[in-house]
Amino acid sequence: MPKVTLILRDKTQKTIEFESGKLPYLGHGLPESFLDLAMNAGVPLEHACGGSCACTTCHLIIRQGEQNLSPMEDNEADRLDTAWDLTVSSRLGCQAVIKGDVTAEFPMYTRNYVQEGGAIQLGQPEAPAKPLEPTVAGK
Ligand code: FES
Repeated sequence: MPKVTLILRDKTQKTIEFESGKLPYLGHGLPESFLDLAMNAGVPLEHACGGSCACTTCHLIIRQGEQNLSPMEDNEADRLDTAWDLTVSSRLGCQAVIKGDVTAEFPMYTRNYVQEGGAIQLGQPEAPAKPLEPTVAGK
C-alpha cells in the first residue's frame, strides 16, 4: 500500500495511502500516477494538457522514494526539459506511476498558460523601468 506525501506550494503536507491496483481511474494522466492520485484525493495538481505529456504544469520534485516510481520514458524527459525550475529529481506528475512510498514537492511555479477551468493566466506585464534622471554634461 503506497504512502504518498505531497508538499504543497504553501509547504503544508498531505499524505495519501492507496491500495495498488484499486485506485479509481479518473481519466487524466497514467493510471496510478501522481495526477491520478491527486485527482482522487482532491489535491489541486495543475494539468493543463489533461495529463497527456504535452505541458509541464504537473511538474513535481521528488524528495524521497524516486526508486518507487515507474522509469522515465523519452517523451517525459523531452517534455521536462521545458519545465520551470527543472531539477535532477523532477518528474511529470501525469507520467510517473507510483509503485511504493514516495515524497514529492510542488515547485514554486509552473508555466501554465491555460489554467484548468478555462481562465487564461498570462500574468501581468512588467512595470516599465523608471526613467533615468536627466544629466547635464559638465556638472
Ligand atoms: Fe501536461 Fe502532465 S499534465 S504534462
